[in-house]
Amino acid sequence: LLRVLLRPGDHLIFGHDAYGGTFRLIDSVFAEWGITYTVVDTTSTDAIAAAITSDTKLVWLETPSNPALAITDIAVVAELLDGPQLVVDNTFASPYLQNPLALGADHVLHSTTKYLGGHSDVVGGVVVTNSAKLDEELAFLQGGAGAIPSVFDAYLTARGIKTLAVRMDRHCDNAEAIARHLQQSPKVKAVLYPGLESHPGHEVALRQMRRFGAMISVRFHDEAAARAFCLATRLICLAESLGGVESLVEHPATMTHQSVTGSTLEVPRDLVRISIGIEDLDDLIADIDAALAAVE
Ligand SMILES: Cc1ncc(COP(=O)(O)O)c(C=O)c1O
Repeated sequence: LLRVLLRPGDHLIFGHDAYGGTFRLIDSVFAEWGITYTVVDTTSTDAIAAAITSDTKLVWLETPSNPALAITDIAVVAELLDGPQLVVDNTFASPYLQNPLALGADHVLHSTTKYLGGHSDVVGGVVVTNSAKLDEELAFLQGGAGAIPSVFDAYLTARGIKTLAVRMDRHCDNAEAIARHLQQSPKVKAVLYPGLESHPGHEVALRQMRRFGAMISVRFHDEAAARAFCLATRLICLAESLGGVESLVEHPATMTHQSVTGSTLEVPRDLVRISIGIEDLDDLIADIDAALAAVE
């Protein structure tokens, strides 16, 4: 998508808590091709407005963001932009919970590895756009460069999509209950989940999402506690990735977001990210309680 939308000398704006791989792609690959970028807190419309230059061609939002679960008002940003295209990475929400094109975005990205595939057995991505021209250019590039999924991967993804709705409802039921449960523990400093009234983006999330998704980040009192929790769960597996039927836990600072260490996107070391699956809620809560008990 970036290869089609951007040319050397162009500038893009993206969020200060974007997925580490997105940062790595922009900072290492696209910067070498002469594309410049500014990292801002995208939840602040003023910050986006201040970062726009005459070369800005694209604003890239992640909402909810990975791993801070920050919420950016898509419609407000779309309204602000006059010229630059708005791209939304909708991976955390899935199309079942949020439809950025309807809110004014120009293009939407999903890692289909996550909720769309849903079973942690396929790697892929999709660009969704209302632009027939972009669609044509991307198809040409896919044909020319060969970046297409295998037939079997496409089959697995299509099969996953058939159960997206029922999986997402169960993911959200579990996550909403677990977020509230975690909030009650004195071992936990803060629970970052847009479904909680205490979340700064809750009002916007209520407007632009149908429900709040199943990614929860937890701040512990220090890094040792965060790591101890990650190592102590049994049902919830310690692994990267997210969005599958099985729950996963990880420590972003040393795992998914290791590539942003030392940059403005650095993730707090006391933060743990949990991808809540569709297992029995009581089993998940029992596992979380046992892991919390192991935290000093
Ligand atoms: C928000 C977000 N976008 C994109 C990706 C990239 O996905 P993939 O692993 O399918 O390349 C990830 C991966 O974790 C992600 O969390």
